[in-house]
This record gives sequence, C-alpha cells and structure tokens, in this order.
Amino acid sequence: MSQPNAAQSGTFKIGNEITVNRLGFGAMRITGRGVWGEPSDHAEAIRTLKRLPELGVNFIDTADSYGPDVSEKLIREALHPYSGLLIATKGGLTRGGPDQWAPNGRPDYLIGQAKKSLQKLGVERIDLWQLHRIDPKVPRDEQFAAIKSLLTEGLIRHAGLSEVSVADIEAARKVFPVASVQNRYNLVDRGSEDVLDYCAAHGIGFIPWYPLAAGNLAKPGSLLDTIAHHHGVAPSQVALAWVLKRSPVMLPIPGTSKVAHLEENVAAAALQLSDEEFAALDRAGKAEAGR
Ligand SMILES: NC(=O)c1ccc[n+]([C@@H]2O[C@H](COP(=O)([O-])OP(=O)(O)OC[C@H]3O[C@@H](n4cnc5c(N)ncnc54)[C@H](OP(=O)(O)O)[C@@H]3O)[C@@H](O)[C@H]2O)c1
Repeated sequence: MSQPNAAQSGTFKIGNEITVNRLGFGAMRITGRGVWGEPSDHAEAIRTLKRLPELGVNFIDTADSYGPDVSEKLIREALHPYSGLLIATKGGLTRGGPDQWAPNGRPDYLIGQAKKSLQKLGVERIDLWQLHRIDPKVPRDEQFAAIKSLLTEGLIRHAGLSEVSVADIEAARKVFPVASVQNRYNLVDRGSEDVLDYCAAHGIGFIPWYPLAAGNLAKPGSLLDTIAHHHGVAPSQVALAWVLKRSPVMLPIPGTSKVAHLEENVAAAALQLSDEEFAALDRAGKAEAGR
C-alpha cells in the first residue's frame, strides 16, 4: 500500500502567496506534560517531525510558548533549513508553569518575542506569525500596530490571529492583511461557524485547533463510529475528513508526539466522505455541540 500523503487534502495559498497542503501539523504536543518542558521521548518527537516532509506535510504550526521555546527548538533540530516547509509560529502568551497561560500583548513584548522566534527557528523571516491571543489589558489596535511593524520591517512575511471574533478580524484588517485565523473548531465545537464563513469569503486560512475532538460522537455505536467502520478507518480520521470537507480554507493541524499517530492522521487526507455522510455528521455534531 502506498504511504499516506498530505497532498491528498488539496492545497491552500497562505496570504495568496505560499502554497501548502491543507492537512498540516500542530507542534504543541511534542513538548512535555502540560505543554511544559522537554518531551518524555525526545527521539520519538524528532522522528515524528522528520517524518512530516516524507508524508507531504509542509505546514507546521508552533508557538514561542510551547515548552516554552522547546517546540520551536525541536523543529529547528529536526527540520532546519526547512526546504519546502512553512513554519508558522505565534507569540502573545506567557507561561508560568504546566498548563498555565497568560496573555501579554504589549507591543514591545510581541516584537521582542517575534525576534526571539527568528533566532530559535534559525530564519531571517518568519513566513507566518500569529498573535496567540488578543490581550484584553492592551488596546487591540496597539497589538495590531506591532504586527504591522513586524511586517513592514520584513521580520515576518504574513500575519494571523488566534481565538478571535469577526469584529476582531475586521478591526485587524484595517491595520494589516490577515492571512490566517486559528480558532478552536471541530465536529462538536461549532462556536466559530461565523468566523469560518468570514474567512472563506475573504480567502483567509482557517486553522481549526483541537480538530480531532469528537466527544460522545466517537463512542462505540455512534454515527461517527458507524461511518468509521464503514470506511475501515478510525473515528479520529473521519473527524479530520469532515473538517477538511467543511471548507476549502480549512487547514487542520492535528498534533501528536508519535509517528504512528501522525501516519494515521495524514491518511485521513485521502478519506472521502459522501455528501450524505458529511450532512449527517454535521447535524449530529451540531446537536452534540448544543447539548
Ligand atoms: N491557537 C491556539 O490557541 C491553540 C490552542 C491549542 C492548540 N493549538 C494548535 O493546534 C494543534 C492541535 O490542537 P490540539 O493538540 O489541542 O488537538 P488535536 O490535535 O485535536 O489532539 C491532539 C491529542 O490527540 C492525540 N492524538 C493525535 N493523533 C492521534 C491518533 N491518531 N490517535 C490517538 N490519539 C491521537 C495526541 O496525543 P499523542 O501525542 O499521544 O498522539 C494529543 O493528545 C496544536 O498542536 C497547536 O499547534 C492552538
């Protein structure tokens, strides 16, 4: 059997310029427990990263706060100089310990962190830098102005946002071109439908984080489980195929620290759900989300 390839998910042009295969990789899970410190199995984390280009995955999402620093450094160790890969990173969240996250949107902090990411990743320019959170303690326009200056100085090529509303995106687009939006979204977490539709209408990449979640829908005997059985695949692969079919601007980044899980996730790129399966899952997911 031929090996899975992310190219089967189709392509998307980030910022109408850099073409990536739509099924990407999230590099948050290659760190320690609570997204803190070194991974428990460094060798497997490196093997997982090195497997990405072999499987056609050329869009990798990370952040300065994953570890912190650990994820960016592992990506450099495994993949530098990134031939044909788009490494997207983020800034704007600080870490106090495992599972602790606090926003800092002060312009000098954001600019300083982007410069540190350049060093950690070993690049002269970051292809896609995303504001991890809008800090409610700092006027959002000041945070957007910091991003604009990173673009103007050429330290970053494209910029995106994370966990934002349509109003936030519209305010940001008055200051800089928004290339991507990263919001939590999956079959049973549908709070960002309006943001997704806005992104589709404006050619903005929508990066659904936590794409594998399916909650009770993945239980034995559920609709998702039945459809997975029908195709001879895992429920998580159907969850991924569903988000991919939902919109051409959808760029899922399932994360894992294990080669076997990566291969399983990438295989979902080839899974074609029928329109009926898609619609039935859509209804079931919305019902589950509304519970
Ligand atoms: N913008 C934001 O605020 C934000 C927030 C969270 C995450 N993110 C980004 O989004 C990415 C994805 O989000 P996520 O990591 O929360 O969710 P996810 O990718 O949906 O789920 C990851 C979890 O599923 C497990 N997993 C992955 N593939 C599997 C498989 N084939 N079989 C069984 N288990 C599997 C992983 O553990 P194993 O390591 O054991 O496989 C991990 O615990 C992150 O890596 C990060 O880049 C962004």
